[in-house]
Amino acid sequence: MKPRDPAAEAALAATVGPRPSLRGLFAEDAERAAAFAFEAEGLRLDLSKQRISRAHLVALLAFARARGIEPARDALFAGAIVNPTEGRAALHSALRGFGGDAAAQAEIAAARDKARAFKSTFDADPRLGGAEPVEAIVHLGTGGSDLGPRMALDALKAYRRPGLQVRFAANIDPEDLADALDGLNPRRTLLLVASKTFSTLETMANGVAARAWLQDALGEEAAGRRLAAVTAKPAAAQAWGVAKEAIFPFWDWVGGRYSLWSSVSLAVELALEPGVFDAFLAGARGMDAHFQATPLESNLPVLAALTAHWNRAVLGHASTATIVYAHRLRLLVDWLQQLEMESNGKGVDLSGVPLPTPAAGVSWGGVGASAQHSFFQLLHQGVQEIPLDIIFLETADAARKDDFTALNANALAQARALFAGKDRATVEAEMAARGQSAETIAALSPHQAFRGDRPSTLLSLNALTPQTLGALLAFYEHRTVTQAWLAGVNPFDQWGVELGKTMATSLIGALKGADASGLDPSTAAWVERLRRV
Ligand code: F6P
Repeated sequence: MKPRDPAAEAALAATVGPRPSLRGLFAEDAERAAAFAFEAEGLRLDLSKQRISRAHLVALLAFARARGIEPARDALFAGAIVNPTEGRAALHSALRGFGGDAAAQAEIAAARDKARAFKSTFDADPRLGGAEPVEAIVHLGTGGSDLGPRMALDALKAYRRPGLQVRFAANIDPEDLADALDGLNPRRTLLLVASKTFSTLETMANGVAARAWLQDALGEEAAGRRLAAVTAKPAAAQAWGVAKEAIFPFWDWVGGRYSLWSSVSLAVELALEPGVFDAFLAGARGMDAHFQATPLESNLPVLAALTAHWNRAVLGHASTATIVYAHRLRLLVDWLQQLEMESNGKGVDLSGVPLPTPAAGVSWGGVGASAQHSFFQLLHQGVQEIPLDIIFLETADAARKDDFTALNANALAQARALFAGKDRATVEAEMAARGQSAETIAALSPHQAFRGDRPSTLLSLNALTPQTLGALLAFYEHRTVTQAWLAGVNPFDQWGVELGKTMATSLIGALKGADASGLDPSTAAWVERLRRV
């Protein structure tokens, strides 16, 4: 957690020299494929197709040490104040049983006991004190109180207990809640409001509407038995109508985007077979132990963060795309987007000094192989170079082995095509062999040639299990935080989202007819127009 060190940054940038080609890096280093591949906790990280030589890696590791990554890591796990702008620790690892002081561990253990007890009661008798059994949970939350549980539950579909649906609504657009409630029987529905602050506009608006939907069908008292909450503001939840025993804790020292290990995932835990959520936590704990104890030279999150920093700060790549060749991980990109862009989308360093280059790139992506038929054209032939993370599973459903083999062939093929490209001479020779005229060859060959030499990382899971999913998500959390430390920013605050929230609140008033003076002319014109609707 050191402030930036411009001299160290300049020294790192100076090590790049003339940009090596990826083909050149492989040509000069026969062991490169093995030397740049790293394994831990069921994950294999292949960085060999990144534009990093062995000498660069040595410089990057020295930079990481100079940036104080090792003590920062220890401070994180010890529960030190690593979020200085909010004066808080960041104990998301403690939620999965790794690190934290005795007081935090005791609170977490009590919360786990409460969630487990709730689950066993529910598994044994899903009526939960009501007349009819609960068949659906409607989870209301947004941002970190939505994306993590939504993604984890989708990823772990194979481990679900039968007979329980979980629906999510995050947006204040009433259509979202309408979809979530569509076809549900209020007598058999549990409403779970997940909000750290218990004041987020979208979540509370959905909560009020969904609570009214319950009350209309059941009456106030019975509806109250169908309400649960996860929040750091239990008094507000109780005042809102949730019984004390159905309120699960959230703490100041867990950032929303790092919170899916907590009771924020209560609906996930309830919907999974017994023990699955604990296995998920154990997988993440394994990655915590790896991150803390493994030398930087073979530490997966650190190496991935150094690669990301190199691509962003030294080579100047503005974005990174994550492509998941695994349908069950289709929501990972959304979760990762919040994790990376809310954590590291910062304009100043820890001392408040403006950053000369962004701390992290734009994080985006999609699902392979479908994405190949939409935006991959730009990745292959567009002018800008966009490094990729390509994620795939090494083993999957045996019954559909051929399809999974084809899926993985596509994952490898994209990385290989981006790397190898196809030069003009090869294209011309192929066209000539097909008997095309010299004129056609001259006209079309520039359009068909690929420069190649584009970087990607291959990241595999030996299979998609609760453990490997936990390890994968913890890997990305540690990568994000390490990247922040390398750039000298605080990954745990998010002041940038506040201004828009404040303005939205005052614009609600303006749209309803309150004084609209002081608005910029464009907004004022829209307010004027929308007031007439
Ligand atoms: O607006 C951003 C944010 O504060 C995120 O950081 C957070 O995950 C999300 O909103 C939801 O906040 P809450 O859990 O307090 O409703």
